[in-house]
Amino acid sequence: MMADAVDPALVPHRRLSTGALLPAIGIGTFGSDHVPHEAVAEAIEYAAAVGYRHFDCASVYGNERHLGRSFERMFQNGLKREELWVTSKLWNDKHGEPEVIASCEQSLADLRLDYLDLYLVHWPFPNHHPPHCDVNERNPNAVPYIHENYMRTWRKMEELVDRGLVRHVGTSNMTIPKMKLLLRDARIRPAANEMELHPHFQQPEFFTYLRENRIEPIGYSPLGSPGRPERDRTPEDSSPIEDPVIREIAERLGSHPAAVCIQWAVQRGQTPIPFSTNHRNILANLQSVVGEPLTADDMRAIAEIDRNCRLIKGQVFLWKDNQSWEDLWDLNGEITPP
Ligand SMILES: NC(=O)c1ccc[n+]([C@@H]2O[C@H](COP(=O)([O-])OP(=O)(O)OC[C@H]3O[C@@H](n4cnc5c(N)ncnc54)[C@H](OP(=O)(O)O)[C@@H]3O)[C@@H](O)[C@H]2O)c1
Repeated sequence: MMADAVDPALVPHRRLSTGALLPAIGIGTFGSDHVPHEAVAEAIEYAAAVGYRHFDCASVYGNERHLGRSFERMFQNGLKREELWVTSKLWNDKHGEPEVIASCEQSLADLRLDYLDLYLVHWPFPNHHPPHCDVNERNPNAVPYIHENYMRTWRKMEELVDRGLVRHVGTSNMTIPKMKLLLRDARIRPAANEMELHPHFQQPEFFTYLRENRIEPIGYSPLGSPGRPERDRTPEDSSPIEDPVIREIAERLGSHPAAVCIQWAVQRGQTPIPFSTNHRNILANLQSVVGEPLTADDMRAIAEIDRNCRLIKGQVFLWKDNQSWEDLWDLNGEITPP
C-alpha cells in the first residue's frame, strides 16, 4: 500500500439483502471518448493501491480487456479476488436469450476474472447505439420497454447466478413502475440499481423505494459528470460541484466540492462511483469517505438544492419520432405506453 493510502477496512460498507458487503464507494471506468483505455486501466491500478476495492465496469465502455490486465497485476501484487467487488453490465444489443450468458462470459474473459460480484442490465431497453454517436441519432429498430422481453433477459441473468458466474444481479436506469413489475416476477431479486444520483438530481422517491425494498442504490455521475462530452450537455444542465451550498461547505471544511458530493452520497445511503484518472482526485475522493462527516445541517442544506436535473437523459434510446427524453423515465408513475 502507498503511504497516504486509505485502509479499505475503514471505508464504509453496505450490507446487501444477500448479506454480502459492498464497499460504499467505487471507481467508475467510463472514459467516454476522450480518456484512453490505457489511462483508465492505469487509474484502477492506482485506485487499488490507495485502497479502493469496488470497480464499476461495463462491456460497452470498450476497455474491459485493458482493465483485465490491471486486475491481473493487482492479484500478482498480493490482492485476493475476494477482497474486490467487480461490477460489469450487459449491453443493450445483448438482451436476447442466447446472448446474455455469452456476453457475461466475454466480460469475464476480458476482465480475467472467474466470477463477477454484480452483473447489471445496463438499460431496460434493447436499443443499441454505436459508441460516441450523436444524441439525435436514432436506431430504426428501437423498441419501448416490453416487460415480457425484459423478463426473458432477466431469467438468463438469474441463470448466471445459478451457474456461479455472478454473485448478484441488478438493474440500471430503471424507474419505479418498471422495478415494481420486476420485483413481482423475479425469482432472484436485483441486489442493486445503478442510477444517476448527485446533489442536483437526488431522485428522492425512487431512492426511498429502493431502500425500502433492500435494493442498493449505486449512484453514477456523483459529481455531475463534469467531463462528459459537449454533445451530452443541454442549456438547462447544472453542475453540483459549482453549487454555492456545496462550495461553502467545502470551504468551511477546507476540502473540495467533489469531496462534499461524495460524502453527502455515502452519508445519505447510496454508493457513489466517481470516475477519475487523476491520482490526486482518485485519492481525495476515497479519503473523503473516511474523514470528518458532514453535519446534520450540511445534509439538510444539500437536500434542499435538489433541482431534479437529470444530466444523462438517454435520448438515443427513444423509439419513435416526436418523443422527448422524459418518455424514457415514466414521469407520471406509469410505464410510457408504446
Ligand atoms: N449505469 C449507467 O448507465 C452509467 C451511466 C454513466 C456513468 N456510469 C458509471 O459511473 C461512473 C461515474 O460517472 P461519470 O464518469 O459520468 O461522472 P462523475 O464521476 O460525476 O465525474 C467524473 C469527472 O469528474 C472529474 N473528477 C473526479 N474527481 C474529481 C475531484 N476530486 N475533483 C475535481 N474533479 C474530479 C473527473 O476528471 P479527472 O479524471 O480529471 O479527475 C471526471 O472528468 C462512470 O465512470 C461509469 O462507471 C454508469
